[in-house]
Amino acid sequence: MTPVEESFADRTAVVTGAAGGIGAATARMLAARGATVVIGDVDPRAASVAEQISGRGGLAYAVSTDVTDEDSVARLMDEAARLGGAVDVLVANAGIAERKGVLHELDMDHWRQVLDIDLTGVALSLKHALRHMSAQGSGSVVAVSSILGLVGQAGSAPYSAAKAGVANLVRSAGLGYASSGIRVNAVAPGYVETPLTVGLDQTVRSQMLARQPMGRLGTPDEIAEVISFLASDAAGFVTGAVWSVDGGYAAQ
Ligand SMILES: NC(=O)c1ccc[n+]([C@@H]2O[C@H](COP(=O)([O-])OP(=O)(O)OC[C@H]3O[C@@H](n4cnc5c(N)ncnc54)[C@H](O)[C@@H]3O)[C@@H](O)[C@H]2O)c1
Repeated sequence: MTPVEESFADRTAVVTGAAGGIGAATARMLAARGATVVIGDVDPRAASVAEQISGRGGLAYAVSTDVTDEDSVARLMDEAARLGGAVDVLVANAGIAERKGVLHELDMDHWRQVLDIDLTGVALSLKHALRHMSAQGSGSVVAVSSILGLVGQAGSAPYSAAKAGVANLVRSAGLGYASSGIRVNAVAPGYVETPLTVGLDQTVRSQMLARQPMGRLGTPDEIAEVISFLASDAAGFVTGAVWSVDGGYAAQ
């Protein structure tokens, strides 16, 4: 078995939403383990993450990408194949948090925005990565769902619906490509210290912490480690799976 430090030698990994948080931690980890990393994000700070990786001896590129725009996503995957020779790994991580609120006051523009980025963005990323992976006859996809895709939460309708959609998208895609040499899985992170949660107000943060079995939030590296494992050959018999990485949250 290839040691984990070299799991991605000669592999090209596309990571969406890697300008910060879980995506940036994943991009750094995959690059440190040998991958050529191609970051697709709307945030121009993705370029600094790529520069930082390259400065540490890794190989990384940033391609300005909006995951809700099919042409943009298709270009990202084509560019990754051009830069790295293939699309071996996709980490479909880009996402936004929602504004909490009761369902009978739901702003449908907000609903469409969350579904567009958090679900359709993942579907488009899978579609265009799988276009390359099918032609290659190999590949591994890890999408980032959430504990809120596995259990409900009052006030979280759009995000929960989108993340549950990601979980079942992955199950269906895992089955669809199981005999094609391509694996498709997801992680379902619990609450993690990232720009997405740092921006929440103190009341919401206190409520979040009160429900943590371990009494703390996760770190981006703790999520990246499981993404890296699922993306690697070491997880060769895992497909169509949604793995909780949540300090026990969904077990309650
Ligand atoms: N932080 C948590 O507690 C937590 C918990 C469960 C799941 N998640 C999921 O993890 C993923 C990463 O989130 P994070 O916490 O690292 O937050 P983050 O805000 O640091 O990362 C999200 C990234 O997605 C990018 N993005 C947003 N819209 C985009 C678009 N249209 N096209 C391309 N990129 C876009 C952002 O620019 C950002 O870099 C998200 O899917 C999020 O829902 C986070």
